[in-house]
Amino acid sequence: MHADTTFLWGAATAGHQIEGNNTTSDIWALEHRPDSPLPERSGDACDSYHRWPEDLDLLAELGLNSYRFSLEWARIEPEPGHISHAQLAHYRAVIEGCLRRGIVPVVTLHHFTSPAWFSAAGGWTAPDAIQRFRRYVQQVRPILDGVPWVCTINEPNILAMVARLRSGDDPPESERGEPQLVAGALPPPDPDVSAALFAAHQEARAELSDLAGLRSGWTVANQNFQALPGAEALRPEWSYPREDQFLDVAIDDDFVGVQAYTRVLLAPSGPVDPGADVRRTQTGWEFYPHALAGAVRHTAERTGGVPILVTENGIATDSDEDRIEYTDAALRGLRDVIDEGVDVRGYLHWSLLDNYEWGSWGPRFGLVAVDRTTFARTIKPSGRWFGERAQVGLAPA
Ligand code: BGC
Repeated sequence: MHADTTFLWGAATAGHQIEGNNTTSDIWALEHRPDSPLPERSGDACDSYHRWPEDLDLLAELGLNSYRFSLEWARIEPEPGHISHAQLAHYRAVIEGCLRRGIVPVVTLHHFTSPAWFSAAGGWTAPDAIQRFRRYVQQVRPILDGVPWVCTINEPNILAMVARLRSGDDPPESERGEPQLVAGALPPPDPDVSAALFAAHQEARAELSDLAGLRSGWTVANQNFQALPGAEALRPEWSYPREDQFLDVAIDDDFVGVQAYTRVLLAPSGPVDPGADVRRTQTGWEFYPHALAGAVRHTAERTGGVPILVTENGIATDSDEDRIEYTDAALRGLRDVIDEGVDVRGYLHWSLLDNYEWGSWGPRFGLVAVDRTTFARTIKPSGRWFGERAQVGLAPA
């Protein structure tokens, strides 16, 4: 029995990062370009396309009550207008697999990848992009029966920042070989892509609005912008295009997803490196577990009471002690924020599996290790620890 049955305790993944052979997607195409900026390819990934029942069994074995995963638009609509009923049936089976095991499905409709044809035709700013996305949502609508949480678009703010990579334009030298996108160091979101994503989100929500019991929202990358002395005036100005305008869009949503990993320090000239002495994770980010509490507080202030679901939080490390230390501190911070009165509905750790980190297999975020050749899964001590924590609640004595 879970200590608090309504609170979601789970783990998160995304299709392209775990399924393998997502060959009709734009990121697969980008990985295979001769001049690809992505040093490593996704390949078979974790073979979760075939091994999803095993993944769900792992969640159940850990005692977790929810799973966030994404549908691959590229599989469902591999060519414009061609809907694969077999792929819809595949994802319906995953949803039913969750429900059968008592695992609450949290389904993301778009997690960074689009069909290759969609991006080749101009991506989010093409004249018919929003209608195409809405038609995709219309197609997946019937398989969402029984799904209480739907995330329309994952990290639209990051998507709008890296729009240039996806469009196939050559990224500047500074972004090459830098798969772990550090939000603070990225260019500001493309305003046209941002506006298109706002519209796409609203259209998707409208398409799903009459499904009983379904809550929809989107998940924003919270960057914890912190002003160093002298940069106080810059902070809101910096944060608005990169984060706050995306939170403002969520004000009427059923929930908002918070995703937080680290912080970004702002000097009057812009983001600065936290310095050689700070503890870092495999992605090079500062080890900063307070990021979660900061992000939840900021999201609550900005959205004014929209229910919050932590849809991602975690750490890339080979040290399981560090993963436990980081997650424990993040959860304690979350408890404080809840005690302050913020409406938080759950915590989904990133990630269930060591997976493909958008250009690299180096960073390991998983509670479960995956052998890259046999695809054998091995629960890490941090996975066991997290499962036990889920039974105890947010702040053990
Ligand atoms: C994304 C994930 C990614 C994680 C760690 C988030 O930006 O939604 O796909 O793997 O952070 O970098």
